[in-house]
Parts: sequence; structure tokens; C-alpha cells
Amino acid sequence: MISTNIKEAVYHLNQDKIIGLPTETVYGLAGNAFSEEAIQSIFTTKKRPSFNPLIVHIKSLDDLPLVATDIPDLAWELAKAFWPGSLTLILPKQPHISDTITAGKPTVAVRVPKHPMALELLANLDFPLVAPSANPFGSISPTKAIHVENYFGDQISLVLDGGSCEAGVESTIIGFEKDKVQLYRYGAVPLEAIEKITGKVTVFNKSESNPKAPGMLFKHYAPKTDFILSRTILEDIEWYGDKKIGVLLFNQPISDFEVTHQIVLAANGDFETAATNLYAAMHELDSLNLDIIIAERFPDYGLGCTINDRLEHATHKTTTHLKL
Ligand code: TXA
Ligand code: MG
Repeated sequence: MISTNIKEAVYHLNQDKIIGLPTETVYGLAGNAFSEEAIQSIFTTKKRPSFNPLIVHIKSLDDLPLVATDIPDLAWELAKAFWPGSLTLILPKQPHISDTITAGKPTVAVRVPKHPMALELLANLDFPLVAPSANPFGSISPTKAIHVENYFGDQISLVLDGGSCEAGVESTIIGFEKDKVQLYRYGAVPLEAIEKITGKVTVFNKSESNPKAPGMLFKHYAPKTDFILSRTILEDIEWYGDKKIGVLLFNQPISDFEVTHQIVLAANGDFETAATNLYAAMHELDSLNLDIIIAERFPDYGLGCTINDRLEHATHKTTTHLKL
């Protein structure tokens, strides 16, 4: 059930139930971080493997020591700069943080979300919220309440409707090793903005053999329709010829070829706008019974890196006729 009633959400969460939670990045599937029952139902409902840990959402910077310990100075600086906001920090966990949340790791992922409804909700609770993105394991992340409702319907108590997510892609995940700052997942805060504070960050996001964030191992954010990421969009459209083709474009429509459906993510050329619209466009194209979706690769800087990362994870066919 979709609702805007925060009191109702508080009621269900206090009963160890789970809800759809609007955040500024994507919708989360949220439960009481101190309730083993709630944590378990998140894993079960999402069909998430137990070795993939969850993010803890706290109401303010001041609560960080309740969740994490041995917090490096740079972590404090990042938290001060970006919270409330779309930055997740991986830090040594407090002993009382459940091993189920962290998948047995000694570290915990934590952030303060920026969405006003999420903050109001947290202010009315005696506990932090654990919340992975509110999609079944592997599928496209939700950026509207209806996406969550379509995925989980009666399996969850409520979807709190906070409108369309402003950032539209997940948080950036940062970890620390000795004095080094490491990127575990590209996200809504561009790497360049983080490096302004920390200096050079080591990028671990793409290391498939040694993923720092277990969730980055998998095919992800994936539509059911065949999906390819293309640097040569016109050639790929021509190759697929008379098939029902959906095209996902950065800022320019296709006019040289007939395609079944095309979506321009940001006519204004802004990466922010493209990120905001990305998952809703993928949901839409995936609902059209197309033979194939061809997505245009973004320039590799700023949020372009985040968008390319999501498009790469969504890709079913890693090679096309042209590229090996
Ligand atoms: O924007 C977001 O981060 C959204 C909203 C709802 O907050 N949440 C989200 O959660 O994207 P999820 O579960 O879909 O992705 C969390 C990622 C996973 O890749 C997981 O492996 C990683 O965080 N992670 C969690 N705890 C970790 C830890 N202790 N060490 C390394 N990676 C961790
Ligand atoms: Mg996710």
C-alpha cells in the first residue's frame, strides 16, 4: 500500500515490519536496525544473499559513534561535508551492530539520508534503519513509490511515498584503509567532489576479483529485456535492424533511424538530470516488450562514471557485433 502517512510508517517499523522508504538516492526497503526479525525479512523479501551487507541509516552526524568506532578524521570531514546526503562510509562497527547486517564483516556501512520524509521518520524512531535498495536482488533500483509497490506489493506493510528520488542513483560508498581513502561504489556524489576533501582516492569499484563492496560483484540494476551499452549507438541500431529496439540516450534524440521507443535522459546536457531520470527510464523501456535496449555510453567523468557503472552492471550482452 502506498501512503504518505509517516505515523503509519513509524507504527509498522515499531512492530518489526519493513516498509518502502523514500531517500534522495533511491527507495530503500527499511527496517529496525536493532531487530533481527526486521533484518531477516529484508534479506528474505529482497532475495538477497546473506553475504551481502546492508547500509545503516542514521538521523544525524551526532549518531555516528553509536554505530561505528575508530572513526578516522577524514571520515568525519567527509561526513560533515556531505551529510545529510548521498555518501556512505564503511567504518569499523560497534559491537552491538548485528553480524547479520554486516554479513559477518567487522565494518558497517552508514549514512544520513537527505530526503525530508526519511529524516522526519528517523527523528520519530528510537533506532536507525537498515535499508538496501528496494528492488529484488539484481533488478532495476526503484526511484518512485510505484516501482516499490510493483515489486513487493503485499509483501511489505507500506511504501512511504516521497515522490521521485532527486539524485536517482545510489549513494557513493567510501572506505578507509590505514591512511588511504577508497571508492567501493560510484554513486550520487561524484568522485571529484570527494577528492577535493581527501586528495587522491583509490578506485576499487571495478575490481571484480576483489570487490570491496560485495554487492558490486553481481549483474545488477538489470532490466529483463536484453540490454547493451554502446559507444557506437547508430551502428548498433543499424545492426539490430528490424528488431523492436528501445534506445536510452544522454542528450540528443536519434533521427537517422526508426526505433520503437527512445528516451533522452537529459535534453539540457546535465549529468544530474540524467542520473535523476535513469532508473525510471530503464523501468519504462523494460515494460514495453522490446527485443533489445541499447544505451548510450556517457562521458567518463563526474556522474558520467556513476551512470556508466550502472549501465555496465545492467548489461546482459557484454559484446556486440563490433566490439569484443
Ligand atoms: O543510496 C543508497 O545507498 C541506497 C539507499 C536506500 O540508501 N541503498 C543501497 O543499498 O544502495 P544496497 O544494499 O542496494 O547497496 C549497499 C552496498 C552493497 O553493494 C553492499 O555490498 C555494500 O553496500 N556494503 C554494505 N556494507 C558493507 C561493508 N561493511 N563493507 C563493504 N561494503 C558494504
Ligand atoms: Mg542495490
